[in-house]
Amino acid sequence: MRISVIGCGYLGAVHASAMAKLGHDVVGIDVDTAKIDRLSAGEPPFFEPGLPELLTASIASGRLRFTTDVAAAAEATVHFIAVGTPQTADGNAADLRFVNAAIDELLPYIGPGHVIAGKSTVPVGTAARLAERIEATGARLVWNPEFLREGYAVHDTVEPDRLVYGLRAGDEASAAVLDEVYAHALELGTPRIVTDFATAELVKVSANAFLATKISFINAMAEIAEATGADVTQLADAIGHDTRIGRRFLNAGVGFGGGCLPKDIRAFTARAEELGRGESVAFLKEVDSINLRRRRRVADLAMAELGGSVNGKKIAVLGVTFKPHSDDVRDSPALDVAVSLKGLGAHVVAADPKGVANARLRHPQLDYVEDATDALSGADLVVLVTEWPEYTGLDPVATRELVAGAIVIDGRNALDRDAWIAAGWRYRGMGRD
Ligand code: UGA
Repeated sequence: MRISVIGCGYLGAVHASAMAKLGHDVVGIDVDTAKIDRLSAGEPPFFEPGLPELLTASIASGRLRFTTDVAAAAEATVHFIAVGTPQTADGNAADLRFVNAAIDELLPYIGPGHVIAGKSTVPVGTAARLAERIEATGARLVWNPEFLREGYAVHDTVEPDRLVYGLRAGDEASAAVLDEVYAHALELGTPRIVTDFATAELVKVSANAFLATKISFINAMAEIAEATGADVTQLADAIGHDTRIGRRFLNAGVGFGGGCLPKDIRAFTARAEELGRGESVAFLKEVDSINLRRRRRVADLAMAELGGSVNGKKIAVLGVTFKPHSDDVRDSPALDVAVSLKGLGAHVVAADPKGVANARLRHPQLDYVEDATDALSGADLVVLVTEWPEYTGLDPVATRELVAGAIVIDGRNALDRDAWIAAGWRYRGMGRD
C-alpha cells in the first residue's frame, strides 16, 4: 500500500516506521522541520526502545521517507492522521486545531479510492464532522484509534491487541483497504472490530478512562490503607487474583501522568458535559482528584520525615519521566513532585536516565543529573518517583554509604522494602509502610 502519515510525534513516527517495515511505501509528513530532519537521518526525536533500529531499517529499505511538504501525500492512497490533540490552554477540552489543519491541508490531494484513517484521540462526534468534508472529495474516512503504550510502542504497533475500524455503515471497501494495511496483524489473529464512527472514538477514550479509574481506585485504597495501617500492595495482589479484577494497572503510587491518560479523561468529561451527559462521567473528576492528591502525599511525607520542613534539605528525586522506558515528562507526577519540593525550599537534585533534557526545558529551576550517584551523595532524603530499573535495582547497602540521611520515600512501591529496612533505611511507601 502507498501510505502517508500526517503528524510524526510518538504515534506517527512509530506508525510510519512500522508500516514501512511491514512492506508498505510510506511518507511521514510533519510541519516541524527539525523533527523531519532528525527522522530523515534515522534519529527519533524522542526516546522509544526499538525505534532507532526500526527507523534505520525502514529508511534503508527505501520504503520510508519524511518531508514537511504535504503535497507528498498525493503519492499515497491511505492517509493516517496522527497529529496531537492536547488539552486546551484555557479548559479541559481537547484542542482540535492540529486535526483540523491536517484535514484542510490534505483535502487538495485526496479523491475517490482514497481512505483517510484517523488515529488521533478525538472527542466523540469529530469523525462525523470531518467525514462530510472528506466525502465531498470522493474519499472515505475510517476512525482507527491507536492503543499503543509509550515504551512498548513498536511492539504495540506491529502486533496490536485489537484493531478497531469506525466507518459508515456498509463501507466494506474502506475496511478492505485497512485489512490490507494490517495484513500482518490480522494473520496473527488480532481481533478486528468494525463499528460506527462514534463507537470507535468512544472505544479509545473509554479505554483510557477505565485504565485511569483502575489506577485511581487502587490509589484511593492506598489512602484508606494509610489511615488504617493496611498494606495496599498486598491488597492489590489479593484482589488481583480474581481474574474479573486482574492485577495489572493496580500499582498504587504517585499516580498516572503522560500525554494521554490525564488529558483524555479531562477531554472526555468536557465532551460529555457538552452532550448534556456530564453526570455519566462525573466520577472521572474524582479519578483526577485522587490522582493529583497522591503527588501531594509525597511532599507531605517528605516534610513529615524531615521534621516538618524540607527547607534547605538536599533531596534526591529519582526519576522525572511519567513512567520508565520513556523520555516523556508531559504531566509527569515525578517532575511535579520535584517542583513542589523545590517550591517548599528543598535543594532538589533530580536524576533520570532519559528525561533530563525534556525536564530541563519545562523546569530549568531544578538541578538535574543523569547519574543517580550525584543526586544521592549527601542527600537528606531519597524520593523514588519513576520506577526505572536503574533505581529499583539500587543496592540499599551501597546507597546508604552515599547519603547523609537514610530515609527513602518509595513513590512507586517498587523497592524491595525488606532489603532497604534491613540495610538500615527508614522506608515510607504509598499506602504501606
Ligand atoms: C496510555 C494507554 O495505556 C495506552 O493504551 C494508550 O494508547 C495511550 O495512553 C494513548 O492514549 O496514547 P501511556 O500514556 O504510554 O499509554 O502510559 P501507561 O502505560 O498507560 O501509563 C500511564 C501512567 O499510569 C504512568 O504514569 C504510569 O506510571 C501510571 N500507572 C500505570 C500507575 O500509576 N499504576 C499502574 O498500575 C499502571
